[in-house]
Amino acid sequence: MTHQVRAVVARGKGAPVSLETIIVPDPGPGEALVKIEACGVCHTDLHYREGGINDDFPFLLGHEAAGVVESVGEGVTDVAPGDFVILNWRAVCGQCRACLRGRPQYCFNTHNAKQKMTLTDGTELSPALGIGAFAEKTLVAVGQCTKVDRAASAAAAGLLGCGVMAGIGAAINTGNVGRGDSVAVIGCGGVGDAAIAGARLAGAATVIAVDIDDRKLETAKKVGATHTVNSKQGDPVEAIRELTGGFGADVVIEAVGRPETYKQAFYARDLAGTVVLVGVPTPEMKLELPLLDVFGRGGALKSSWYGDCLPSRDFPMLIDLYLQGRLDLDAFVTETIALDEVEKAFERMHGGDVLRSVVVF
Ligand SMILES: NC(=O)c1ccc[n+]([C@@H]2O[C@H](COP(=O)([O-])OP(=O)(O)OC[C@H]3O[C@@H](n4cnc5c(N)ncnc54)[C@H](O)[C@@H]3O)[C@@H](O)[C@H]2O)c1
Ligand SMILES: [Zn+2]
Ligand SMILES: [Zn+2]
Repeated sequence: MTHQVRAVVARGKGAPVSLETIIVPDPGPGEALVKIEACGVCHTDLHYREGGINDDFPFLLGHEAAGVVESVGEGVTDVAPGDFVILNWRAVCGQCRACLRGRPQYCFNTHNAKQKMTLTDGTELSPALGIGAFAEKTLVAVGQCTKVDRAASAAAAGLLGCGVMAGIGAAINTGNVGRGDSVAVIGCGGVGDAAIAGARLAGAATVIAVDIDDRKLETAKKVGATHTVNSKQGDPVEAIRELTGGFGADVVIEAVGRPETYKQAFYARDLAGTVVLVGVPTPEMKLELPLLDVFGRGGALKSSWYGDCLPSRDFPMLIDLYLQGRLDLDAFVTETIALDEVEKAFERMHGGDVLRSVVVF
């Protein structure tokens, strides 16, 4: 059997997305069909539409989602129909070298659904990050479903599926932020703000938010920044040093993805401090730094894919903290929109008006 559902498709480079009917197959072995309840609009969806990721149009966009398992394929026991799940793009294989070494968060053979979703004329769709959740239903690998407490709001929970997890994880997993640390976050969109929230969760004493937009600095305060710096109005490296007794921060998280902000992060950390790059650069970007400074300043220069998260470990824990009132995921939901408003949400994202627009079904 197949399912005909409405979905948001990007048909060609730079062209506005369109609302289409797509065909979703019933789940086969190792697969689950998920009825989507909410899906956030992430910068990466826009990257796909602009042809910035690859040329495999048409794309089925959307990947920050939560929903309910409708049916599962033969032999599936990990999730069952009725389970409330957050979708992830790190369904670990358990067999690659990283998994076998006990580091599944670096798995390099992650699973997606084997069967293809298609347009009504049979054209195969490429689901964004192997998910494709701007759709009433989507087909994923079972490992892409992480069961969490049904009491959580779907709009908030779904955000853990990508950007918010990337930010929180950049602080708590990659950056190893600890109690009493000083942390600076450069770029306070959804990802940077999540890094701020993560730093607070980990017990950081000083959390400095840096952005070029005062509106973003206001929301950064709401999610836990103790200080803010508008880097249009002065040198952010100097400002961060001043706020940290002249030393620089223990951990600086770059959540923009540009060489100039990376350099700021590099010089705004204390000696032997850590830089975490979670912002995603484009292929033409280059970084130039004195190698002596890389050596002389010591410490660690790291990048963070998906916050080095392990969905089965991190999602249920973070949802529990959310339900206890210790992690305000609702603060990341700027607005809820309908499925046909994704294009408008891209414009608002571009204008810096939102942390996250979330499609609710
Ligand atoms: N590593 C991962 O796994 C992962 C996952 C999701 C997103 N991302 C990436 O994280 C980055 C941020 O994503 P987002 O959703 O928060 O985007 P966003 O557009 O909402 O936020 C970017 C923020 O950076 C600010 N900014 C822009 N230029 C700046 C500058 N020169 N100095 C200081 N601030 C500046 C903007 O004002 C904005 O607040 C993107 O590059 C995105 O692709 C990475
Ligand atoms: Zn693996
Ligand atoms: Zn994303």
